[in-house]
This record gives sequence, structure tokens and C-alpha cells, in this order.
Amino acid sequence: MADWPKHDVSFLAGHRQRRLRRSGWMRDLVRETVLTPTDLIWPLFVIEGQNERTPIRTMPGVDRLSIDLLVKAAKDAASAGIPALALFPNTPDHLRNENGSEAYNPDNLMCRALSAIKAAVPEIGLIADVALDEYSSDGQDGLVRDGEILNDETIDAMVKSALVQAKAGADIIAPSDMMDGRVGAIRQALDAAGHDQVAIMSYSAKYASAYYGPFREAVGSGSRLKGDKRTYQMDYANTDEALREVAEDIAEGADMVMVKPGLPYLDIIRRVRDSFNVPVFAYQVSGEYAMIRFAAAAGAINEEAAILESVHAFKRAGAKGVLTYFALDLARRLGR
Ligand code: PBG
Repeated sequence: MADWPKHDVSFLAGHRQRRLRRSGWMRDLVRETVLTPTDLIWPLFVIEGQNERTPIRTMPGVDRLSIDLLVKAAKDAASAGIPALALFPNTPDHLRNENGSEAYNPDNLMCRALSAIKAAVPEIGLIADVALDEYSSDGQDGLVRDGEILNDETIDAMVKSALVQAKAGADIIAPSDMMDGRVGAIRQALDAAGHDQVAIMSYSAKYASAYYGPFREAVGSGSRLKGDKRTYQMDYANTDEALREVAEDIAEGADMVMVKPGLPYLDIIRRVRDSFNVPVFAYQVSGEYAMIRFAAAAGAINEEAAILESVHAFKRAGAKGVLTYFALDLARRLGR
């Protein structure tokens, strides 16, 4: 419909648009966007212990899982047709410090989780988040000196973290920190260490957002965080800037890019999709999950319908896939 005249709509006179909506089979026939389990990436939170499962107050229905239960969840995901998982550790307090050095301990919780799943469920892809907030004592994604988030020093730590994750079995490294130059540095280091087959999914257009609250509870960084992340995550008033971020990450070697949060940023997904020829992913973040769950629990909306509608919207906007906490239930629903 590219060249239709914008003001002359006379060619539509008398046409009945509703013909194509009259019945279920007709709507099935003409549907433009089809969602399948292979569009979904399932984010999971890892904790220490055996047979441990701890609820997250602000994310009803999502639990942090110990590695043994995580492996079970990975099996469920694979049977439901989900292609990949995104893992996030809740690092025990005594291992957090101002350097976030646990991030590059080859035996850290994240690495043990990666290798356990890789061994037990080799058919599922593993995406490892790289950022220091899951390991540091102050909840920022970078190293902090005199209140400033350091860029290049943070990258050194991130590179070391990506390397231990790749060695443990990560298939995709996903830097979520928004430091400048981290994709190139990680790519070079991976290649030099023989991990040239490990891909990079960059959180390229990641906005400083109010919607990350429940995630920060889940990984235990929220209560530590002083201030905000606005000197590195993007200003939600901007869109051209997102294209510059994406261009830079692709130039540095990102195989895939991500826009985050999801639903409030569909315009960014569409612009990225139209401007670049790499797969774009959307992250339906924790706050978006919470809004649907809490609204449904209050009887304000139908939960299943809202989930289906919201995830379709990402694909319609141009996303190749969606990271969503609803992934398992949704994949099972779509598979029926
Ligand atoms: C940390 C990170 C965050 C999310 C993914 N990785 C939080 C943040 O940047 O503060 C948010 C995911 C979500 O809200 O579901 N680097």
C-alpha cells in the first residue's frame, strides 16, 4: 500500500472492510502477523541452593530458581518450542563488592547455571546477560568512582565476564549495560579466545525506564541502587539517538540488537527494523509483566487476551522475537 494517495480516499468508497473480519477462518486467512513459540525468549532468575524457589513480590507467577529447578524449566521450555533462555543471577550478598568481581569468577552462579543447562538441555540456546548490577554492591551497571559511572574500566570487567560465560556455555552474550564501545571490546575478546561462534545480542536501545523496578527486586539490585541510570541508559524523549546506538553496535559486531522496554517503545522497534538489516528483539520488561498480572488479578483485564495482544504487537512492529516472562505459558498456549 506504499503509494496510495493520502488525501484521496475515493477509491475506498463503498468498500466493505468488514468482509475480511466476518468469521474466524477468514481472519485466520488474512492475518498479517503470526506468533509462534519460536518467537519467544524466556528470561529466568537464578539463585543458589537445591530445590529452592523464591517468589518475587512484584512479579507474581515468576520465581527465582536454583540450578536444579532451572534445568527442569529449561526442559519445559524446550518441549514447548522456545528456542532460547535469558539468564539473570541473584548473586548472594556476601559475594557482591564495589568492583563487581564476582561477574568474572568462572565458578559464579551464572556460569554454573549455564553449564548445567548446556549439559542437560543442549538443544536450547543460552543468552547470558552481561552487566555489573547483578554483582556489584551499588546496583549500577558500571563501576562507580566519586559518583561517576566509569566507561572503559567497566568494559574491562564486562569483557572478563563475557569470557567466563562463553566458556561456561553461553551461546549469545547480551551486554545490557549501555557503556560505549562494549560490543566491539567483547567481540574482539571472544574471537581472540576462540569463541568466534558465540553471538552478541546487544541491548542497543535501552532506555532509562521506570519499568525495570520488579527486575531489580528479582536480582537484588534495587534496594542498593542510589540515584538512577540516566547517564548511560537512554532518555525516553529520544528516537534518533536509538538509531545511532544501533548503528554503532552493528559496526562493532553485534549480530542482533534489542529495544527495551517493549510496549512503550514500539516506534523505536519499527524504526530500527526499517533502518537496519539485522534481527531486532524486543524485551517486554518486568514492569510490563507486572502491569498485566496485577491488572488481571484485579479483574480489570483478561490476562490471556492481554498477553496475546501485547506480544503480537511487538511482532507487528517488526521484532523478530520477544523476551517475555510469559514465554512458557504463551508457548504452550500457541502450541495448542
Ligand atoms: C541490568 C538489566 C536490567 C534489566 C535487564 N538487565 C535492569 C536495569 O537496567 O536496571 C531489566 C529487565 C526487566 O525489567 O525485565 N543491566
